[in-house]
Amino acid sequence: MTNTMKSLLALCLFCGAGAVSTAETPVRHTSFKPGEIWTDNNGVHINAHGGGILYDKGTYYWYGEHKVEGDAGNRAQVGVHCYSSRDLYNWKDEGIALKVVEGDNSHPIAKGCILERPKVVYNKKTKKYVMWFHLELRGKGYGSAYAGVATATKPTGPFTFLKAGRVNPGKWPLNMDKKDQTMKTFKGVPGLTSSALPEGVRSEDMFKKDFEKGQMSRDMTIFVDDDGKAYHIYSSEENSTTHIAELTPDYTEHTGKFVRVFPGRFMEAPAIFKHKGKYYFIASGCTGWAPNAARSAVAPRIAGPWTELKNPCVGPKAGSTFGGQSTYILPVQGKPGKFIFMADIWRPQNAIDGRYMWLPIQFDGDQIKLEWKDEWKLEDM
Ligand code: GAL
Repeated sequence: MTNTMKSLLALCLFCGAGAVSTAETPVRHTSFKPGEIWTDNNGVHINAHGGGILYDKGTYYWYGEHKVEGDAGNRAQVGVHCYSSRDLYNWKDEGIALKVVEGDNSHPIAKGCILERPKVVYNKKTKKYVMWFHLELRGKGYGSAYAGVATATKPTGPFTFLKAGRVNPGKWPLNMDKKDQTMKTFKGVPGLTSSALPEGVRSEDMFKKDFEKGQMSRDMTIFVDDDGKAYHIYSSEENSTTHIAELTPDYTEHTGKFVRVFPGRFMEAPAIFKHKGKYYFIASGCTGWAPNAARSAVAPRIAGPWTELKNPCVGPKAGSTFGGQSTYILPVQGKPGKFIFMADIWRPQNAIDGRYMWLPIQFDGDQIKLEWKDEWKLEDM
């Protein structure tokens, strides 16, 4: 081989390697590849973790936590990133929809706070886009357990922060026994050291612990029902019990009406969808960034009663949700009855490298079924 041929060959090999995914050579995607690097229109790995999707006027908008390198990347250094797509495979970077506040460390969404699992819904009455998220105030670990809300007039933002705090102070759940709706019987609860209620601790007392100051709100999602009512679904009571709380008609406040579900079951990462008039729920257990077995449940009404089903995952690695944790369930437009389970494969040591795991939802009667796929297309659903 002549030297010229050798250099040409080297050049071709170099081009081939470069085509995988560099910022200069964006790739057109035609399938989902769970767990792999997923590049945007600039050839950069999508940065929208713990995310959710809004479908608005023919376009999907993906909102999620913008992470940065290292473990400090798990704290909000930038804000909520937004991407748009018409085909669900190819995503255009729309920039930061909600920015953290720099230069004022006392601001609720000061840079360095923990801002997780943002979800955006559109309110037809106010014509506003409403974003809810889990917020932990800067420097306070996971002790604040706040829900935050911001609004915008365009799906891509900029979103304006409205407020954040605990949820429904001084309100009793609709499904708590009337005789329990009094603080007189509150016995106090010890600090929790594990993902189980200590011997003899009633889950009702876990609720009463925060009755006056408002309920804890951590991992969360928002669900808008067919009648336009929106619900905030969040891990509460030290993550031991999930709450489903109704939002006001403008979606920016809680009405005070809510139910406690799966008491003492310690679930995180709630995701919900409606199919053939029934409500379905997928969540995880509580092991932080480490994966665990997913949970699933079904109910005839959003307020319950909820019946827990089996681990929806089947096959190898079903016991660890294939390494992922739920974040959202996306109804596919134009394909009634078709839903995508969206999950995160966290990389807590280098947060920005977290991966996405989207899998088609299958049904076996009422039981939701999720199977691992290396690669799949919407036509396969
Ligand atoms: C997970 C939760 C994540 C994040 C993490 C922190 O269980 O789902 O959103 O809060 O814990 O350890």
